[in-house]
Amino acid sequence: MQGKLITVEGVEGVGKSTNIEFIAQHLRSAGIKVILTREPGGTPLAEDMRQLLLTPRDETVCDTAELLLMFAARAQHLNEVIKPALQRGDWVLCDRFTDATYAYQGGGREMGFDTIAKLEQLVQGDLRPHCTVLLDAPVEVGMARAKKRGALDRFEQEKMDFFERVRQAYLQLAQQHHQRFLVIDAAQQLPAVQADITKGLAALLAQVKL
Ligand SMILES: Nc1ncnc2c1ncn2[C@@H]1O[C@H](COP(=O)(O)OP(=O)(O)OP(=O)(O)O)[C@@H](O)[C@H]1O
Ligand SMILES: [Mg+2]
Repeated sequence: MQGKLITVEGVEGVGKSTNIEFIAQHLRSAGIKVILTREPGGTPLAEDMRQLLLTPRDETVCDTAELLLMFAARAQHLNEVIKPALQRGDWVLCDRFTDATYAYQGGGREMGFDTIAKLEQLVQGDLRPHCTVLLDAPVEVGMARAKKRGALDRFEQEKMDFFERVRQAYLQLAQQHHQRFLVIDAAQQLPAVQADITKGLAALLAQVKL
């Protein structure tokens, strides 16, 4: 049987990396084989593209170049890692995926959703996440957590209204695709966040015969 693709999304510092580990442990304890990966990145070539995308530079990065680099990295990641894993029957847990492109380039950069939808179809065909955990919190909450980590990357240097547009785009996606989205209040303390994630995943696990 095909594995499932689960993605974790949300603005900077909201707790994606922390909670993806928690989700991995939870699924593994249910006997599921899980691959943990991230975007942009997940293969040596795609990780090189991640560096190109995240490193602050003097040259202005044109929005279309940024968008195409995101999808170039995704194409490589899908072919080398995600699709083979799903075909083996493993579950893939991915820290950010195409919803992040809708949120950051579509919402944050104000490129809209239409061009992204065309690239999504070109690169992914019909492949979409089975479940997307959206960690939602006021932008200031995530930024305050992220800043504790030190130097800011090219996206983290954006202004608050950029991240507000990113958050709103994520919430719009969650409404549009409510069947696959699990929206979690990530402003809560970690144990409460993780209790909500466990509750949400129970429905997904119940569908799967192990
Ligand atoms: N619910 C929470 N309450 C308080 N602190 C938290 C919570 N969740 C995560 N943190 C802390 O906030 C910081 C950022 O968390 P984490 O790195 O998981 O976020 P992220 O979403 O992966 O960030 P980025 O978008 O930059 O990758 C970490 O120091 C983490 O321990
Ligand atoms: Mg992270």
